[in-house]
Amino acid sequence: MNFKKEIARRRTFGIISHPDAGKTTLTEKLLLFGGAIQEAGAVKNNKIKKTATSDFMEIERQRGISVATSVLAFIYKDKKINILDTPGHKDFAEDTFRTLTAVDSVIVVIDVAKGVEEQTEKLVEVCRMRKIPMIVFINKMDREGKDAFDLLDEVEQKLGLSVTPLSFPIGMGYDFKGIYNIYEKNINLFSGNSKKNIEETIAFDDLSNPELEKIIGNKAAETLRENLELITGVYPPFNKQEYLDGAQQPVFFGSALNNFGVRELLDCFIEIAPTPRDKMAEERLVKADEKQMTGFVFKIHANMDPKHRDRLAFVKIVSGTFERNKPYLHVRHNKNLKFSSPNAFFAEKKEIVDISFPGDIVGLHDTGHFKIGDTLTEGEVLHYKGIPSFSPEHFRYINNADPMKAKQLYKGIDQLMDEGVAQLFTLELNGRKVIGTVGALQYEVIQYRLEHEYGAKCTYENFPVYKACWVEPKDPKSVEFQEFKRVKQKFLAIDKRGQLVFLADSQFSLQMTQQKYPNVTLHFTSEFS
Ligand code: G4P
Repeated sequence: MNFKKEIARRRTFGIISHPDAGKTTLTEKLLLFGGAIQEAGAVKNNKIKKTATSDFMEIERQRGISVATSVLAFIYKDKKINILDTPGHKDFAEDTFRTLTAVDSVIVVIDVAKGVEEQTEKLVEVCRMRKIPMIVFINKMDREGKDAFDLLDEVEQKLGLSVTPLSFPIGMGYDFKGIYNIYEKNINLFSGNSKKNIEETIAFDDLSNPELEKIIGNKAAETLRENLELITGVYPPFNKQEYLDGAQQPVFFGSALNNFGVRELLDCFIEIAPTPRDKMAEERLVKADEKQMTGFVFKIHANMDPKHRDRLAFVKIVSGTFERNKPYLHVRHNKNLKFSSPNAFFAEKKEIVDISFPGDIVGLHDTGHFKIGDTLTEGEVLHYKGIPSFSPEHFRYINNADPMKAKQLYKGIDQLMDEGVAQLFTLELNGRKVIGTVGALQYEVIQYRLEHEYGAKCTYENFPVYKACWVEPKDPKSVEFQEFKRVKQKFLAIDKRGQLVFLADSQFSLQMTQQKYPNVTLHFTSEFS
């Protein structure tokens, strides 16, 4: 087995979108192309439906499904493609942010009628900051929507991207005739039949050829020529290096539901998308083709069965090969661990594998050793960066409702926090525990899981916080910092990593604090060095 060849054939990516833009449908169509599933509908349940907000069993059931669909792998034209699932529901945004640390590129799906939506903005911002290569897919072209040029403008302005269309629609909605593939220089005619896997593609590199009129009609031919002229004038040509550097984002148009424009997207994707990228650790840059195995945990999933409290830790392999039964150093615990049944993921199932390569995700059974962000190596002390916590949006005190079960409660809270379900802050003043979450839904999930998995009961109490900020003093010994700690004691807490956090109760108090203590920096994420 050729190690370098294995790396070169891997593409590990995530699809991000606002809920309902078509992420699930697109995922499914990609899997169909890979021959990984036989029929549409197989990954349909891969999302937390809006109606599920207070239906615990539904949440549990969907958690189960999401284990199976956390990583979907398939082979297409000899490329091993790993799609990492990112929950679209905003209450699980933190989970999505963490998954983005494990992808090498992303595809952003946008609904042609709705344009850029809130969730897309947030997720793209994270990708932009990390310079993750992005391809944009404008979906639902079979429906009436925004003008393609207006939409490209919106993507540039709202998402701060630098786009260049690699395909362009011919008409839209009722009038949708197909797309011109700028990348491949051909026309794809839309039949509106989702069952047809291969659409009619006509090679067409000279658009002045009068054949165009015959194929799509006079009016559409004229408009297409004008549009393409405009594109050449306004947008820079596609530049692969800029795309890989996160400086340019190619755009495709299509309709996932109709399986239209998906093959073009996939064919271009496997050609241009990055192979497993090198990754920065605190100590040094680790190259994907280094022989020694390194990897990090980006997701932990609890077992659905309360009788077996083992969990599945998802490890992204950054370098080297991960082998079954070989000892690896768990850096945080300074302990060697062996894994007899590492799981690899395929379209609908997981299987024990003997060897995995950079870019792959392995699922390791865990009885409580792992935390999100943990690094595994062959002995080197490395810490992968880039799994920061963001300020939660909701904060509540958590109280023990059954004094006999205090131990279970704290163990449960501890493990749920390791999984990244929410963030725990311990107040400096009185040691009370505050749970911070991205969405209100998590409180119900925590309460339910504490009761069903740990036999503990809790209640919540409101704790008004505007934002959690991670504190970094210029000089920890300075009088200014000592005064900050004394005056703000009521608002200070320690997070799970032992970092000092300032819980500002209003935007005003945050601003006042920033002004009053200019040498104490307040960060909005936990990772700032
Ligand atoms: P998500 O994962 O991003 O949340 O979106 P999902 O794929 O579930 O798609 C949301 C809705 O949009 C679905 O309809 C889906 O069928 C539809 N859709 C996806 N792609 C296209 C497209 O290209 N054209 C059109 N017209 N519709 C599209 P739904 O009614 O909410 O769900 P379902 O009943 O079809 O499952």
